[in-house]
Amino acid sequence: MNGSKVVHIPVLAEKLAEQINLPPDGVMVDATIGQGGHSLLFGKILGPAGVIIGLDVDIKAIRRAQLKLKGLVCKVIVVHSNFSQITKQIHQQGIEKVDFILADLGVSSAQLADVEAGLSFQTNMPLDMRIDKRLKTTAADIVNKADEKFLADLIYRFGQDRASRRIARFIVQQRRQAPITTTSQLAAIVYQALKRPGKRRKRRIHPATRTFQALRIAVNNELENLENLLASAPELLRKNGFIAVISFHSLEDRLVKSDFRKNESQGIYRIITKKPIAPDRQEIAKNPRARSAKLRIAQKV
Ligand SMILES: C[S@@+](CC[C@H](N)C(=O)[O-])C[C@H]1O[C@@H](n2cnc3c(N)ncnc32)[C@H](O)[C@@H]1O
Repeated sequence: MNGSKVVHIPVLAEKLAEQINLPPDGVMVDATIGQGGHSLLFGKILGPAGVIIGLDVDIKAIRRAQLKLKGLVCKVIVVHSNFSQITKQIHQQGIEKVDFILADLGVSSAQLADVEAGLSFQTNMPLDMRIDKRLKTTAADIVNKADEKFLADLIYRFGQDRASRRIARFIVQQRRQAPITTTSQLAAIVYQALKRPGKRRKRRIHPATRTFQALRIAVNNELENLENLLASAPELLRKNGFIAVISFHSLEDRLVKSDFRKNESQGIYRIITKKPIAPDRQEIAKNPRARSAKLRIAQKV
């Protein structure tokens, strides 16, 4: 499957819309436009003088978002760019300040289903994980070339898996026999590494989840990109403008939380969400991908 038929349901959309006050002539930057779900919602609030600038590293997402947002009356500009380049992209459009920056992190349902993306262990795919195909290093490159200690540290740091050393050892043993080239192969190796004979523990998540998360973060420089976005936002936001970030794991959420706190202590932001907003049971039932989502919002003072 190439993922093009998979519909992505925007996460926490209603809760987000309740908190954000966007003027009809406002400028919204959707830093992760994806399939344009959140942009469509806010685009309906914007009038002909309003602007949406959407960014995404995935060229397929860019095309789909353009199609989805075609009917809006506001101006829509979609750019194939990493959000770490947000300031440059906004200035290139002749815009200095914006009213709303949204980042809905992670990957879309379409990307998870896309064989070319190589992100899922549920389906057998080439072990790639580059969301931006302009990047050089794939997950297979790391898994087959990195030394054991580097692999263990990566799985520990970005996957927060305490069995990281054991997983790295199993990976290195396996690749001596043959290169690890598919997601199913890697998932099976991690499964073997974590299997405890005689123990049948009930797991909430698949044993390979953390290792896959670690590799995806490393391949796509996810934390560094988020730090760059957060650092760029204060200068770009107009007074009373909003920044909202939806994150899907604690490493991302921690970065957002500490950035908002730092900016609040310096009188730059007012934190709107004292505690992160999470999806309710109905939303999770309709969209299980929302399960681990956390939304934090701050307003420029
Ligand atoms: C969860 S999806 C966004 C879905 C979107 N909000 C919607 O409602 O359709 C996340 C998107 O962010 C993109 N992305 C991830 N990291 C990015 C980055 N550093 N810069 C730009 N886009 C990025 C992914 O390619 C993906 O399309």
